[in-house]
Amino acid sequence: MSVPTHGNLIDGAWVPARGGATFDDVNPADTSDVVGRLPASEAADVDDAVRAATRALPGWARTPAPVRGRHLLRAAQAVERRLPELADLLSREEGKTIAEARGEVTRAVRILEYFGGERARPSGSVIPSERERVFMYTKRQPLGVVALVTPWNFPIAIPAWKTAPALVCGNTVVLKPAEQAPLTALRLCEILQETDLPPGVLNVVFGSGPDAGAPLVAHPGVRAVSFTGSDVVGREIAQVTARRLARLQLEMGGKNPTVVLADADVDTAVECTLNAAFYSTGQRCTATSRAVVEKAILPEFLDRLVARTAALRIGDPRQAETQMGPAIDAAQLETTLRYLDLGRQEGARLVTGGERLTEGALGRGHFLRPAIFTGVLPDSRLAQEEVFGPLLAVLEVDGFDQAVQVANAVRFGLSATICTRDLARALDYVERAEAGMVMVNLPSAGVEFQIPFGGLKDSSSGAREQGPAAAEFFTETKTVYMKY
Ligand code: UN1
Repeated sequence: MSVPTHGNLIDGAWVPARGGATFDDVNPADTSDVVGRLPASEAADVDDAVRAATRALPGWARTPAPVRGRHLLRAAQAVERRLPELADLLSREEGKTIAEARGEVTRAVRILEYFGGERARPSGSVIPSERERVFMYTKRQPLGVVALVTPWNFPIAIPAWKTAPALVCGNTVVLKPAEQAPLTALRLCEILQETDLPPGVLNVVFGSGPDAGAPLVAHPGVRAVSFTGSDVVGREIAQVTARRLARLQLEMGGKNPTVVLADADVDTAVECTLNAAFYSTGQRCTATSRAVVEKAILPEFLDRLVARTAALRIGDPRQAETQMGPAIDAAQLETTLRYLDLGRQEGARLVTGGERLTEGALGRGHFLRPAIFTGVLPDSRLAQEEVFGPLLAVLEVDGFDQAVQVANAVRFGLSATICTRDLARALDYVERAEAGMVMVNLPSAGVEFQIPFGGLKDSSSGAREQGPAAAEFFTETKTVYMKY
């Protein structure tokens, strides 16, 4: 079967990479299924895209914000109309279940609707002067050309939640989606372009981090970079953008805890942990990778969690009954397998899962049974390092104070859950948790678009994403003094 070939979007046209090279987008559940072929872009392609965005900037920045917003609202309708097709594509190239893929495409619709309306609202303030007949106010201005570098694990939601506020605030965009799942992002850009965006307002270059991402974040024409991905790459980008004082927003790793107190509702605690640890194959930066559990509830919690985990149906994510799909690629699967070995070496006890699944059709994908380790020590590597796979470390604690201390004792701080029925404990935890997002009796993953998103410590840097906070990153304040 011939593989459909796609281009970069540069200056309103779909074009191959100048060097002519391509890469394949492969289905992680069946590696014989090549979903599409995309341009392997390099510095010259990036430069074309940044130049197109630079040319488009004055016109787009001048376009009234409500008019810019209408493009997003039209795109929201088109994404919604095409939901079944987009969800199937997402599931096929990324491997999350079809139910999760539908949820993610729906989230993209809501994001486009939200930011489509957002900028029609006032965006500055009037502040009284000390002097007579002086009028002072502030307004928000676009930054210029912005580079958006997005990961494979939310291939439509994250491109949407960066692109929508960037555009509606009047910036022009060069998007570089991750090469493991680029096609859903391509469809989103196609849909946005079909709302008659002027050429060059939105550009997309496909390719690898080193070949396409690196020249993009280093380009002198790029005024701001928003990146979601590993903290190793995030730190490299920070050094590059610091040299020219470009604005930077980083969303990186997590080692998110779910704290289960002795008084918790066990069903809620099991449900939150199962969802956050294993849905999307554990491949979310908000995933729970540590359950920090009070001794008194540990046996019952663990029994039920292990039973539920062992019963998860793993397989083709596009089948409605599947509850967990494959790892994104061989490298990610290898990483999880390495941490399984490490956990054993560190003396933790594997109580379920961890086997590769290779029978029949599963042999063509990167499938693994979700794994739970108990007896994990707080300073072990298993308890400290991000794995990004279906692997949960269970740590036993003696009381609330120790739970907080263990939950906080990592370098990351993105999302943190507590399961308890004690309101005072929940509110204490909200105060003391070293995390940008705290969930009470809810999974650590699965966020909403209309409220800020971001972490503390090594998880995030720069302004928050999403909700009203998104505009803070994508605009600069201009202060106006006027004598009349
Ligand atoms: C979610 O938990 O719903 O890359 C979103 C990630 C995060 C997004 C998580 N930036 O996993």
